[in-house]
Amino acid sequence: MASKPTHLEPSELGTREYWDNLYTKELTNHAHDPSDTGTVWFDDSDAEAKVIEFLEDFAPEEAGGLLPPGAKGAASFLDLGTGNGSLLFGLRDAGWRGRMLGVDYSRRSVEFARRIARSRSTTTATTGAEAEEEEEEEGKEKDTEPEDVEFLEHDILLTPPSALLSGAQSRGWDVVLDKGTFDAVSLSSETDPARGGRRVGESYRARILPLVRGGGGLFLVTSCNWTEEELRGWFVGGGADEQEEDEEARAWKFEEVGKVEYPSFSFGGVKGQTISTLCFRKVRNPRS
Ligand SMILES: C[S@@+](CC[C@H](N)C(=O)[O-])C[C@H]1O[C@@H](n2cnc3c(N)ncnc32)[C@H](O)[C@@H]1O
Repeated sequence: MASKPTHLEPSELGTREYWDNLYTKELTNHAHDPSDTGTVWFDDSDAEAKVIEFLEDFAPEEAGGLLPPGAKGAASFLDLGTGNGSLLFGLRDAGWRGRMLGVDYSRRSVEFARRIARSRSTTTATTGAEAEEEEEEEGKEKDTEPEDVEFLEHDILLTPPSALLSGAQSRGWDVVLDKGTFDAVSLSSETDPARGGRRVGESYRARILPLVRGGGGLFLVTSCNWTEEELRGWFVGGGADEQEEDEEARAWKFEEVGKVEYPSFSFGGVKGQTISTLCFRKVRNPRS
């Protein structure tokens, strides 16, 4: 079993203040120029497009049913530490039509993502109205879908996961996404007194596991701070902590079902890549 990796040196990227300041700046930029929708993390590696492309392959028509039948119309998405919501908007644009919720602990991020959602729906409504006119002229059916990506302020480590599990998602989300958020959490210097003063990042897996639908839901994590092997250590390996986790965390586990391929480099005889995306499926833990 992969063992848990050692910790990262804490940095300001592990503080809420850093993210609030960043999104405050991005809100101002967006107010001046609505086409400026802020930072796309890991853009150099084209991570967002690659994650979207990867998920296409999990649609059941192509890949043996890892997502529910008719996945593109039905699969629900939860984006953890959503930032400007760019990944969810990208998925919408790629034709995924199920419920989408982006959460972030920065109030300014949520404000920013909602503002972008509103400006997208205005654009859609305008182009939709234009298209409607054109279609009516041509005698075709109209198609004016509203933009319906939801955003919510939520601290993954402090707010109970149950706050995100209601209605159709009471048994979890079909796809839970994390692009750069576990990285940020891992840079927090905060410790948890209830867990013997351990770094808060250590409880991340236990916090997110209930959010993924048991028996098939997917969790995709993209990181620039951890290698693939280290991510396996955090999310598949349990190590000594497993005994301390709650019932849910013992009854289910993550198994790796795929990864996104990125260009690799060689340095001093060692092969590596600048970014990693692993995809896990939540399955029953036979040891429970
Ligand atoms: C590197 S950014 C990535 C943003 C977005 N996922 C993207 O790819 O563009 C990390 C995000 O995680 C959020 N974050 C960090 N710790 C969090 C926590 N405990 N709960 C919720 N969000 C958190 C930050 O506010 C920030 O938006």
